[in-house]
Amino acid sequence: MYNIAIIGGDGIGQEVMSACEYLLDKIDIEFSFQYGEAGFDCYNKNGTTLPEKTIKIANKSDAVLFGASTSTPGEPSPIINLRKALNVYANIRPIKSYKGANCLRNDIDFVIVRENTEGLYSQVEYHDENKVIAERHITRSASERISKAAFNLCIKREESKVTCVHKSNVLKKTDGVFKESFYKVAEQYPQIKTEDYYVDAMAMYLITQPQNFDVIVSSNLFGDILSDESAGLIGGLGLAPSGNIGDHNGLFEPVHGSAPDIAGKHIANPCSMILSAAMMLDYLGEWEISNNIKDAVEKVIADCKIKTPDLGGNSCTMDVTKAISKELI
Ligand code: NAI
Ligand code: MG
Repeated sequence: MYNIAIIGGDGIGQEVMSACEYLLDKIDIEFSFQYGEAGFDCYNKNGTTLPEKTIKIANKSDAVLFGASTSTPGEPSPIINLRKALNVYANIRPIKSYKGANCLRNDIDFVIVRENTEGLYSQVEYHDENKVIAERHITRSASERISKAAFNLCIKREESKVTCVHKSNVLKKTDGVFKESFYKVAEQYPQIKTEDYYVDAMAMYLITQPQNFDVIVSSNLFGDILSDESAGLIGGLGLAPSGNIGDHNGLFEPVHGSAPDIAGKHIANPCSMILSAAMMLDYLGEWEISNNIKDAVEKVIADCKIKTPDLGGNSCTMDVTKAISKELI
């Protein structure tokens, strides 16, 4: 039996989490779910976006499932702080073309490995009389650690190239260290090809030649922006799952946010949350069921009959979830 921390959060975070729980209840693995609060609604209730109790539940679990949270003005991001609290330093975001989805090309299959613990998401911002300052923290240790995670993932995926994305022509010191660390780690992986691009050029290459990438490693903000851009290549945020992996913890969540524009309408695409749960099962060593879930999602999307509006259909969240669950039986 696995102890899973469930943190639905706000808006469609709760909706896709309910769908995910429905699916996990149908599979032949026993889970014990412990529920934690986080986000905007949690702040209004408890005065904090991430209560200590939630961190404790997450820390004690075998893995964490997180939905999404709405940002709270003046308060820190609960998901950024939860990733830091669990030291899940590698944010793994696979991007893949699905048949039946509106993809730019049908041969896209890469993964973004985003550094999770530092960068411009340090949340250290302040002002003096004349200016407002945001600190961008980059350390050699975290840069080497994330590069290693990227090379190891490249081996696991049986792919051949890791692309480092930075902006060292302008951010000479911080991204100088990020790029140097990448190439230092690369020496330990002579069988893997390497390349590096400035983030602005990379934003274009992702559109002009997405089929040429295998594993992409970047710092926190750049990795975040490129992830949403990449989701746009394969039909949107409804198909973009992610895992946050550390040495002792794993936290799995869709790339998307709480989507206030569709929250409460029960039309959120549950696939990114369900695919995140499949990543969790892979992390827990339940490879067979993980692959079955991924196949079931693929079949339902390819079938084109039951799809949420973001993919051009008119079905609701639970119709899609039930269709995926039916494929599993
Ligand atoms: P968003 O990711 O929530 O939504 C962007 C667009 O994608 C919207 O049009 C939305 O309807 C659509 N979308 C997202 N997920 C979808 C799904 N599963 N099915 C169908 N359509 C989907 O980003 P947005 O609107 O910029 O932010 C909304 C709130 O979420 C903000 O408060 C933001 O701070 C927060 N946020 C939270 C994140 C997290 O908790 N990890 C990540 C990103 C944003
Ligand atoms: Mg994001």
